[in-house]
Order: sequence, then structure tokens, then C-alpha cells
Amino acid sequence: MIKLPERMAGVPPYLYAEMDKVIQQARESGKEIINIAHGDPDLMPSQEVVDELIRTAKVPGVQLYPPYWGVVELREKIAWWMEKRFGVKLSPENEIMVLIGAKEGITHLYTALCDRGDYALVPDPGYPTYKTSVIFAEGIIQYFGLRQENDFLPDLEEIEEKLNKRTKLMIINYPNNPTTKKSDLAFFKRLISFCQKHRIYIIHDNPYSEIYEGEAPPSILQVEGAKDIAVELHSFSKTYNMQGYRIGWICGNAEIIKALSIVKTNTDSGIFLPIQFAAIKALDVYDEFVPGLREIYQRRRRIVQEYLEKLDWQYYPSDTTIYVWTKMDKRFNDSMKFVIELIKDKGVMIGPGAGYGRYGEGYVRFSLTQPDDKLRTGMERFMQFVNS
Ligand SMILES: Cc1ncc(COP(=O)(O)O)c(C=O)c1O
Repeated sequence: MIKLPERMAGVPPYLYAEMDKVIQQARESGKEIINIAHGDPDLMPSQEVVDELIRTAKVPGVQLYPPYWGVVELREKIAWWMEKRFGVKLSPENEIMVLIGAKEGITHLYTALCDRGDYALVPDPGYPTYKTSVIFAEGIIQYFGLRQENDFLPDLEEIEEKLNKRTKLMIINYPNNPTTKKSDLAFFKRLISFCQKHRIYIIHDNPYSEIYEGEAPPSILQVEGAKDIAVELHSFSKTYNMQGYRIGWICGNAEIIKALSIVKTNTDSGIFLPIQFAAIKALDVYDEFVPGLREIYQRRRRIVQEYLEKLDWQYYPSDTTIYVWTKMDKRFNDSMKFVIELIKDKGVMIGPGAGYGRYGEGYVRFSLTQPDDKLRTGMERFMQFVNS
């Protein structure tokens, strides 16, 4: 039997591993499973994007190894979009690099920036890759809680007490998964001065910036001086339904991106060129495509919220992301147990809050990535389960 290295012992089991077993059993017993747990959009990318992928796949030469940083045309298009959307000016030359999805960038950033044993500030609850990226590179995680009494923002005074000389970086994510909290520029300003004071790099993971109803969420790079210490990650996964294409980008501080490029040039060999051309097309058709997508999520968000209202469950009133985050009724206190029982009984799969961290316990996450009728059926069955 293989003896895994010590650092692997710190890697928690895959969030859905236990659920997968239960789902398999439920399927075998003839249940139709409705998955409203995963943030895996059911909708297609725009037709133009698909057409561009097919068209360019036939062009001789696209099979060659692509450039490590991404094709210049895509980096220029990203610079154009970042300025149009956020008013942020970036050099395509050294302040933008294309990634194999935001997850890949996050995974390699700790390795690129920290020595073994350096500390990283990681949100709890949070996207699980934040912590595994630190564990893989033998870093030390300092969790900071995102609690509802603080409106799911970090408590900077509390964090200040935990800091030490080896605290090197902080990962944040607004609009937030799983809490759905949207930040404003005022918070980003406070955070930038806090991290400047303590010489901490900021990694802002921002894949949900385009899914909102009211005010558009900001980029942290809008804050003056942000580029001195911060990078921001964007993704084509949720905004354009291109999650399987595996493409995103990192932008901001040139030195951080350069450091990341050292890891990347020694790990991967770029992204298949037609996928990059398809990504250029996605940014080109943003104005035609994204508002319709927002409307779909707005409608689905209301469906889930209405069922929760009928049950008197206290969901967090947000207008962003592709999730609804809600406190469980007081009768239930173990989110994983609750979710497993729900699958067994009703074949409905939702996200257990505890899977995102200690402060996620007591909550569950609904994903809006099923067609309206299926989402409704799932919520109907969920309601029956709670009322049973
Ligand atoms: C907060 C957060 N960051 C990153 C990702 C991954 O994005 P990508 O598909 O670009 O790797 C996800 C996916 O669910 C996410 O929720």
C-alpha cells in the first residue's frame, strides 16, 4: 500500500465523497436525483462562442503548444474588458495572465509566493481549494471567520491579533461563495490599507462578479494602490457557462503574476488555442449574453427564496452568485447529516454548510444551476422533507 506523505494527511476528504456513495445507493433504489448542490451551470455558452471554438479548431497550427501567458489577443481583450467594466487599466504585457480556470491559479499562488511554513489567511467558510492550496505547499493556514453577525465580512481587528511576521497572504472572495455576500468598494479600501500596513498580499477570487441583480459588484483593483499588493482572479466558468472549457485569468500586481508564471511554465503548457479564441468571443458578446443570464438566475433565486419563505427559513438576502445560503431551522444542527438524509429520503442533493468550514455549520447552500421546473421539483421535495 502507498504511504502518503505527511502533508497529504492535512487534505480533508473531498466534500462530496460521502454524499456520492449515498447518491449511488439512492439511484440504485430507483430515485431520480436532483442536484442543487454543485455550482455547475446547466446552461450552454453563447452560440457564437461554440461556433468560434469549432471554427478555430479546424485551423492548421492550433495544435501547437500555446503561449504560456495566453495569446496576446486574449490578454488585450481582457484589458479592454477590465477597463470597460471596472475602469481598471492593466498592461496586457505583464499584468494579465491567462489561467486554466481560477482554481488552477489559486492552487499555485501559495507555492509561488510563500516559503514552507509561511502563514496564509483563509476564509471560513470558503471555497475548499483555498485551504488545500496552502496544505499542498506546506504552508500554515490561519482561518478567519465569516460570520453573519459581521455580515459575512472579515473582522479585521480580530485578524490583526492573529498576525505574525510570517503571515504572507490573504485570500478573499466577494461576491462570496458560499455566503453570497457582496462587498462594496469601502470594504475593499479598508482591506487594502490593512494589508498594506501589515505587508500582506491580497488574492481576490472574483468569479461571480457578473452575476447580480442590483448594483454591480466592484473589482478590488478599483482601489487606488491596490495593484501594489493585490491580484484578482476572474473566470469564464459562471459568467459564460464555459466551466468545462477551463479558462480564466489573473490580473493586477505584476510581480505576483511573474512569480505565478514561474510555477505555471514548469507545470502546464498553456490552454488549447481554440478555447482562448472562444474566450475572446465570449468577452465580445458580453453585452448580448450576460444580461439574459442574470435574468435567469434572478428568476431561479426567487423560486428558491419563495420556498424557504414558506418554511420560514432565514436565507441570506443577496442578489449575487448562483447560490442561496440559508440558516437551517433550529431543529437541525448537523448540516452533513441533514443533507444525507435528504438524499436518502427525497433524492435531492444540496450543499452542507459544514463542508465549507467550521462557521458554515448550521447552514446549507442551494445552487441555481438546474432548469426552473427541476429546481421547483427539488424545492418541493425539500419542503416535504422539512415538514415530515
Ligand atoms: C469561489 C470560487 N472560486 C473559484 C472557482 C473555480 O472557478 P474555475 O472554474 O474558473 O476554476 C469556483 C467554482 O465553483 C468558486 O466557487
